[in-house]
Amino acid sequence: MKFTVPVLVFLPIIILSCSTQKKTTSSSDYDNSLLEQLPHHIKLTWESDPATTQAVCWRTRQGQVESKLQYTKATPSPFFEDKIITVEAQSDTFTADDGTWNYHAVNLENLDPNTRYSYRVGNNDYWSEWAEFTTATGENEPFKFLYFGDVQRFIFSKGSRAIRQAVLHNPDAKFMVFAGDLIHRSAVNIENWGEFFPAGGWIFENYPTIATPGNHEHKWYPDDKTTYEKITPIWNHSFAFPQNGPEGMKEETYYVDYNNIRVISLNLVFWSKHKETILKWTEERLKEFKGDWVIMTHHYNMESAARNRTPGIRYPELKELYEKYEVPLVLTGHEHLYARGQMDGVFPVYAVSVAGPWMNAIRFEEWMDRAGTSLQLFQEIYVSPESLRYVSRTIMGDVYDEFAISKKADGTLNYQERPDLGPESLVPPQNFEDRYDKELVESYESDKEAYLNRDK
Ligand SMILES: [Fe+2]
Repeated sequence: MKFTVPVLVFLPIIILSCSTQKKTTSSSDYDNSLLEQLPHHIKLTWESDPATTQAVCWRTRQGQVESKLQYTKATPSPFFEDKIITVEAQSDTFTADDGTWNYHAVNLENLDPNTRYSYRVGNNDYWSEWAEFTTATGENEPFKFLYFGDVQRFIFSKGSRAIRQAVLHNPDAKFMVFAGDLIHRSAVNIENWGEFFPAGGWIFENYPTIATPGNHEHKWYPDDKTTYEKITPIWNHSFAFPQNGPEGMKEETYYVDYNNIRVISLNLVFWSKHKETILKWTEERLKEFKGDWVIMTHHYNMESAARNRTPGIRYPELKELYEKYEVPLVLTGHEHLYARGQMDGVFPVYAVSVAGPWMNAIRFEEWMDRAGTSLQLFQEIYVSPESLRYVSRTIMGDVYDEFAISKKADGTLNYQERPDLGPESLVPPQNFEDRYDKELVESYESDKEAYLNRDK
């Protein structure tokens, strides 16, 4: 009862205050009722040089066939309207399970290196918020980027944790690498792309993405779970990646040169069909690169690591090529667990990671120096002219794995694992017993013991 008087006293004042504000001027150019109409799934990628270009892709509703991008050099002042440049997007209409959408893309060119720009996308009354990107310096200087394994399932509810925590821990990361299986069903938006882009949300608007396609980005016939057709059209509509790959594999197999490193994405889903082409193209890219570090990313690791998968080297010719050119680091996914190691004791270091909640049990292999499961992880890669430092963290921010590769003056590579890493998380995933053959379940503990007691 004692609150009665103050409420009666203040209520007219509050109403007066609100109504006064409304009559004088609007304090927002954001109309809540337009929310559904706004451009969305906005993301940054590179189609060409990160120092002078920036690609932006987004989606609008069926009625908004045309869309534009506006940009200008970023300023602390909000009064930059007179400096805005407007660019028409390239647009395509595509009908998916959640309706008909217009997909748009712009590749901004002739930008200044090491410069922050503001941009927004939309048309008429329907504009996104302003977001920022910064062009690469083009110089050989230290920076870091992020790497994620499969997000794939329960993307919005739990996969989002990995993307968001990674960026909250690393706001100064320059870009994100996704090693395939971003989603579960390639041509489906509901539960898939419709969750993936909101899972990253504004992060995709501010941090460029490099993604390599996994098996799940390819069409999955409902009746035949082993047959894949070509990559989903949603891949090409959603991203603008470089078209510098072999014919028929553009924007799937490609490379991005960021400052002193080259990131090479290989689509290995049709390896047996395109083996010779991929090998020839990759060798040319390795041979010609004059920068400091090449980082390979493809969805499948050199050897499987999930307990219910067939052991053996998947790509012997690629392994040979990597060893010949001393590729330092290969970033992969697909296994739904964590594994890291060198094969036959030589470079490259192979990393397998997982971002989303779908987990597999480990098949402990000789090449593994570090393994893990029942963990959502993200990775930080610190680059300098002299070294690569790799840190894998749980989404709690704890270091799960760490090593460094350094280069001596004569070009020789040196590898050093962090000596004080904590115990490995080798807890098999929930319902492991129901998903695996009885013998794989029964042998798990003894295999784990043998792994933990191995000579290192
Ligand atoms: Fe996969």
